[in-house]
Amino acid sequence: MQTTLAILKPDSVAAGNAGNILALLEKEGFTIRGLRVLHLSDDQAGAFYAVHKERPFYGELVTFMTSGPVIPVALERDNAVLHLRQVMGATDSTQAEAGTVRNLYGTSIERNAIHGSDSEENAAIELGFFFSQADLIAAR
Ligand code: RTP
Ligand code: MG
Repeated sequence: MQTTLAILKPDSVAAGNAGNILALLEKEGFTIRGLRVLHLSDDQAGAFYAVHKERPFYGELVTFMTSGPVIPVALERDNAVLHLRQVMGATDSTQAEAGTVRNLYGTSIERNAIHGSDSEENAAIELGFFFSQADLIAAR
């Protein structure tokens, strides 16, 4: 079993799509091991996406990610990291494969409904950003 981090982004929460997205993820075999609702500060969103600091879209991304509440979710499944990335679909929602979260609930390359860790190493780092080991162990 592997655990990865998803974040239901502000567009999903504001549109009332959080429940449908969580249901889709559960149908895909993920077990929810942790879940929070929080409104990120500029510093928190900037730190979370620090890997993109030099990219032209960084400022807009931070503005978007702080525009409303988000829902970080710790998700467990076999092959969780790769499977979540497949279920999410392509970064650009308009190019995302039919039936993926971004195809169903995203609206653009930026407002794309969901974040997912892109490697096992980053999943461990990103889970630690929102959840303590004690939370995740207690949820088992
Ligand atoms: P994420 O990290 O959120 O799971 O998304 P991703 O791996 O599919 O895409 P990534 O390249 O890591 O980009 C992070 C987020 O930045 C926004 N973005 N905007 N305006 C643009 O050209 C642009 N490109 C990316 C998206 O919200 C993307 O998910
Ligand atoms: Mg990424």
